[in-house]
Amino acid sequence: MDVYQIIQEMQQENHERTIKNLKQISIHHSLLEDQKKYSSENLIHLEPPLQRSIQTLQDVLNQRTAIKKFESTPINLLDLSSILATIEKSDELNWGIFRELGIDLNIYILARNIENLTSPNIYKYIPSEHALSLVSKRNTTLKNKLDTIILQKEFIDAPALILCTGMVAASIDVLGNHGYRQMLVRGGNAMNTAWLATLSLGYQGSIFAGFYHDALVELFGFDGYKEMLLLAFAFGR
Ligand SMILES: Cc1cc2nc3c(=O)[nH]c(=O)nc-3n(C[C@H](O)[C@H](O)[C@H](O)COP(=O)(O)O)c2cc1C
Repeated sequence: MDVYQIIQEMQQENHERTIKNLKQISIHHSLLEDQKKYSSENLIHLEPPLQRSIQTLQDVLNQRTAIKKFESTPINLLDLSSILATIEKSDELNWGIFRELGIDLNIYILARNIENLTSPNIYKYIPSEHALSLVSKRNTTLKNKLDTIILQKEFIDAPALILCTGMVAASIDVLGNHGYRQMLVRGGNAMNTAWLATLSLGYQGSIFAGFYHDALVELFGFDGYKEMLLLAFAFGR
């Protein structure tokens, strides 16, 4: 049984059988290695998200437009907690079957001005812990390096950037070239969800993809193919 049949079964809501069949698909181990590694010592646990939207979904949709310049007001950490939880929930809802296979979407935060987080710094979101893990080693000079990874100054200056990467090689292993397109759509969903969540909390932002990839890969520590940048979102007030 191939993955398309499995997805069809899932759509027919035959969940138990889907999971059983899914377990028979094996992705080459090396395509997923390092995926779950993080140092528990460096974890910053986030408060559980609060429902404190200040705008309805209808208002958010009516007013949604890309904003690329921001005030220097810091991002509230509890708001970041809500935004990350929302991205996670949406991905789980829409791509749960691929997550079961280990084909994950990863979320990173480039903090420039977020309350209680040292800045500038790169953090990886660990959904299972609802925590941030410092992607630290090579970042002592991050401030000087931002213009080597981001094309546009207005995004370098944003208080917070959310970046999403996907396990692209594993996705291609299962779905062929559709696996790449699927990942791009998934990244688009994640960043659009981030955008809607931030707007509902009174922030503004813009989706963007303008990075220098070689420098980005070096700083963030992923390889650029097994784990590849999909899209990013800059936000602030
Ligand atoms: C996949 C994607 C990549 C984008 N990359 C960039 C980018 O690198 N730089 C940028 O300024 N805007 C980028 N944008 C944002 C668009 O420019 C923005 O959505 C456009 O300006 C429309 O603005 P509006 O929402 O105000 O209509 C990107 C948008 C998408 C969907």
